[in-house]
Amino acid sequence: MIKVRTPATTANMGPGFDCVGMALQLYNTLYVEESDRDLLIESRSNQPIPLDRRNLIYITIENFFKEIGKKQPGLHMIQHDLIPLTRGLGSSAACIVSGLAAANEISRAGLSRDELLQMAARLEGHPDNAAPAFLGGIVAGAMDNGRLFCCKLDTPKLSDLAFAVMIPDFPLPTEQARKVLPNSYGREDAVFNASRAALLTAALTSGRFELLKTAMQDVIHQPYRSKIIPGMNGIFAECLNKGALGVFLSGAGPTVIAVVRRGHLARFVPKLPSEWSFQFIEPDDAGVQIERID
Ligand code: HSE
Repeated sequence: MIKVRTPATTANMGPGFDCVGMALQLYNTLYVEESDRDLLIESRSNQPIPLDRRNLIYITIENFFKEIGKKQPGLHMIQHDLIPLTRGLGSSAACIVSGLAAANEISRAGLSRDELLQMAARLEGHPDNAAPAFLGGIVAGAMDNGRLFCCKLDTPKLSDLAFAVMIPDFPLPTEQARKVLPNSYGREDAVFNASRAALLTAALTSGRFELLKTAMQDVIHQPYRSKIIPGMNGIFAECLNKGALGVFLSGAGPTVIAVVRRGHLARFVPKLPSEWSFQFIEPDDAGVQIERID
């Protein structure tokens, strides 16, 4: 039996659209073994996960075997997925990463972590969820001619921060959240985001967290998505008002994350609309973990 544990991820972190993401201690855990039966998928969570060939982990495993030209064995999979679906917390990326890692083990193909990461980034089309899901921590990445170039940030002071994750009870499919974005942007907007994204990585690595409020600003995606996420603008204002260092839409949304100094954590109690829940989630530094268990 192979166990694969993959973290949730929050992408963009404000200005780093499609290029910056952070792993969180909320996991999709997969147990998989070869089986005489064609396919058996069991779920250990309450999430509406397909338990047949439409299951994203299964689709990823199937594609992996096709790509390496090996015959795929029957599979028994148990999925314990605690990452909320379609909430902007990288649930699909976690399935893709889990599927690739599991398929690499089952097939004994022996692909390196980097080769698997490249595959995951290509499948996602952008690396901001896949890269931190693989590597853990905060990762900045760029696609160049279909190849991912990425770097995990050195963030020695990250433990001074707490991440308040606010999740609504309504979903927002990424496809829909990408459709509301313009096809092109003016120079002013490009400079606005490039400057914030650069400042964001500098603030996170140096521990200059007082810069986060400015560094987490964005004009490329959040203003457009706020129109289809009821309550988002009010929550941003409330969090900053209650002393958050910065606030951003998690990935394509609708989840919102506020960054709070750990010392102020107990005092950070934002008033949220009733459809929104609130919890602190720690960053994950390990990324995907693969284990053979007997
Ligand atoms: N960077 C992506 C987006 C994350 O904002 O659309 C979701 O996959």
